[in-house]
Order: sequence, then structure tokens, then C-alpha cells
Amino acid sequence: MSWRLAYGLAALALIALVGWQASRWFGADSPAGEAVVIGGPFSLTASDGRRVTDQDFRGRWMLIYFGFTFCPDVCPTELAVMAAALDALGDDAADIQPILITLDQERDTVEVLRDYVAAFHPRLIGLTGTLAEIQAVAGAYRVFFQKTEPDASGDYVVDHSSVVYLMDPAGDYVAVFGRDVDAVAMAEGLRHYLD
Ligand code: NI
Repeated sequence: MSWRLAYGLAALALIALVGWQASRWFGADSPAGEAVVIGGPFSLTASDGRRVTDQDFRGRWMLIYFGFTFCPDVCPTELAVMAAALDALGDDAADIQPILITLDQERDTVEVLRDYVAAFHPRLIGLTGTLAEIQAVAGAYRVFFQKTEPDASGDYVVDHSSVVYLMDPAGDYVAVFGRDVDAVAMAEGLRHYLD
């Protein structure tokens, strides 16, 4: 997707969340989450071939990004930020499971995802599924995605929201990191929430 579109989508997502998010970020620890529900059950296929559900991640933090491996710019950039933030935390990131959920299940098979995630971080896992499964999880996480019309050679891109979600060990939404958050700031944010 284009940077400009990605920026617009991220901005929309952030506008929707910013009121509640700001109160958390700046330390006014409000009771969590009655107003905004992000996340929910999912059932997908992991890049090691296992079928997994959200329940498999209970007891650990999930750091989730939605994207696709053919993405020319935004996804690789954001995944690199996630990886660098986790590396900056070192052992403190041991309880965080980084996850890429594909929005392009047609091309992002288990094998494609496996090779792709390995290029970013040794602990990053990719999740794919049927279109219905991807639509369900994207809907639960309020992630927009739209496959563009294929060109003459059949190539297409997937326009999509670009946000990183932090979910707590109970599977509940904690925070969103937008495109303006670099690796240093993401590491700081993660440390803040994990403490
Ligand atoms: Ni992308």
C-alpha cells in the first residue's frame, strides 16, 4: 500500500482510539475497556503449520501486526520496528509473543509466511487462514483491508490499516502503536505496560 494511504488509515484508527489511549498512556489508569472492544477469539494456522487459537497465547502478551508479505513498504518497516523494540527489551520481552496476521491469505501460505517472518525476528510467528478466518480476526481487531484490482500481470496489493496492538496475558486490549512510533518509543511503551 502507499505511504499516504497507510498514513490515512493509521490516522483514522488512532483518532478512534486516541481518547481512551491517551488517558492510559499518560498514566491516568482508567478501568479498562468498557467503551472500546478490540480483539477477540481467532482460529488460524501458524507459520509452523499448527492450528492455533487466541487461547494458545493466554498467559503471554501478544504484539500483533496485520499485514501481508508482498507489501512493498509499510509492513516491512513496521515489522522491523517491532523486532528492534523487542531486541531493545532483551529478556524483558520474553513474555511478549510477536505475531503477524496476514491480510492476504491467497498468497501468504504457511511456507511463504514462515520464510518471511524468519527474516525479521526469530520469535515472530505468522498466522494465516481462510478468507473467512482472516475477515473474522480483522473485524475483531477493527482492521480495515481491501484487495486492489489485479493489474495485467495479476499483481495486486492489499490496502490496510497499519497499527501494532499490544494485548495482555488475558487477551485483552492494552495499547495501540501507530506509524509515528519508532522502535525506541515502542520499547518504552512496552516496558511501561509490562511493569
Ligand atoms: Ni502493508
